[in-house]
Amino acid sequence: MTTTSAVSTTAATYWEPLWAEGRRYRQLCEAEKQLIAEHLGPGDARPALDIGSGDGSLTRHLHHELGYRTTGIDCSPSAVALAAAQDSDAGPAPAWQGLDFATGDLTTLPDPAYALITCRLVYRWIDDKPGFLDRVRRLLAPGGTFWVVTEIAGRRATTDPTLLGLSIPSADAELLTASWSAVRTADLDVLRCYALRP
Ligand SMILES: C[S@@+](CC[C@H](N)C(=O)[O-])C[C@H]1O[C@@H](n2cnc3c(N)ncnc32)[C@H](O)[C@@H]1O
Repeated sequence: MTTTSAVSTTAATYWEPLWAEGRRYRQLCEAEKQLIAEHLGPGDARPALDIGSGDGSLTRHLHHELGYRTTGIDCSPSAVALAAAQDSDAGPAPAWQGLDFATGDLTTLPDPAYALITCRLVYRWIDDKPGFLDRVRRLLAPGGTFWVVTEIAGRRATTDPTLLGLSIPSADAELLTASWSAVRTADLDVLRCYALRP
């Protein structure tokens, strides 16, 4: 199922032209899939939400390999269309929806609560991080997991401001990890993966 209603927000204004012109982002590698398996485990048909799903690689991995019943949302209609175009006939596909998670109506999502919420290479780009985290907490089921993958500052041996700008500073990492009952982390070169439990 795909819902590609027009999304016209600040985030969509930034991301839509990038997807439409063919920009693509870091793919899932085997090492990252291994970390996902270790920290998230089998889905057992529980609902998962992938925020900022992009081309849908992580969404599809959660859905088809780990067995979550997954919804991928993105503010870019081109990204949503690209992800949905890769659905195969082999079994039910993930649900795809055009939605700005930071500002959109979360009651339009297929499920009221999620056992897993993922956010890969997205947190860096959220302007109102406290508001974003509040919205995540509202949707996370008791005992659920919030999985965040983000580049963190200090990992790259470069002075290129564009590359340095891909990471989050330590203050944003502290905000991300505050007020969870359990915080587990794993490092993957310039990335840090967080498994956060309410
Ligand atoms: C760097 S890409 C990463 C895409 C994908 N998660 C991946 O790992 O390949 C960031 C994605 O987040 C989406 N995005 C950014 N802000 C968003 C928001 N507020 N709501 C929904 N999607 C958002 C962008 O459209 C883009 O597809």
